[in-house]
Amino acid sequence: MTNQWNAAEYDAKHAFVYEKARGLVELLAPKAGERILDLGCGTGALTAEIAARGAEVLGVDRSDEMIAQARKKYPALRFEVLDARELRLKFENRSEADKPGGVAKLAAGGFDAIFSNAVLHWIPEADEVIAGVARTLKPGGRFVAEFGGTGNIQKLVAGFERAFSALGMPQPDGVSPWFYPSVAEYAGLLERHGLEVREASLFDRPTALEEGERGLENWIRVFRQTFVEKMGEAKAERWIREVGRQCRGELFREGSWVLDYRRLRIAAWKTGKEKF
Ligand code: BEZ
Repeated sequence: MTNQWNAAEYDAKHAFVYEKARGLVELLAPKAGERILDLGCGTGALTAEIAARGAEVLGVDRSDEMIAQARKKYPALRFEVLDARELRLKFENRSEADKPGGVAKLAAGGFDAIFSNAVLHWIPEADEVIAGVARTLKPGGRFVAEFGGTGNIQKLVAGFERAFSALGMPQPDGVSPWFYPSVAEYAGLLERHGLEVREASLFDRPTALEEGERGLENWIRVFRQTFVEKMGEAKAERWIREVGRQCRGELFREGSWVLDYRRLRIAAWKTGKEKF
């Protein structure tokens, strides 16, 4: 995972991240009393939606900024800073089990479901994440997730690269740090960890950005914050302007930037037949 987050800016201008994923909560179909983990909860909007259905939900995110904002917005809900690669039930370790609150209290016995929206493409170590999901789900528990799939923002990334070339700048590392698996690749990983895949689909989801002309720059500054800061402001400004020029023909329509998002949506059940 490679980004610092400006949580307020994310909420103010990029609410589509959770607005467009409400259908995923329908697929999760949370029930009253179920214990659900929202993995990579961001600022907590979907955690709150799951809680509103009567489930007992814990939102976790690796970013302190996101968790601080989620706690501010939803003080009645539970949020913790946690890296998705390190999911384990703390009660596996007795001394941790005695600590109040946290994952231990909510998850004794495992989660009924783990939910994740727009996060897993930030984590190339998918095997570690899925191992943790398999470890912390109850037998019969479900994993419902959506994230960038193969081909996600391909046109935008090609524009990033062309912009460096057009400006005579060397291509830096990390232009596209994301993990965008195919259905087959991800389903195979899930199966190897004893999760039975019942739904898996890859679909285009063109995503219109807010604020007209400014939308692309806003997006780059929020989702590529660390990358842009590393470049230095003067270079970053030139590069972002050039990305706009390079992408305009393909990604600017009727006054808005429309990014070429592609989603991988999966629902898988823990069977208890883990292969390694
Ligand atoms: C996405 O949600 O597909 C995404 C968001 C930020 C950067 C890259 C992809």
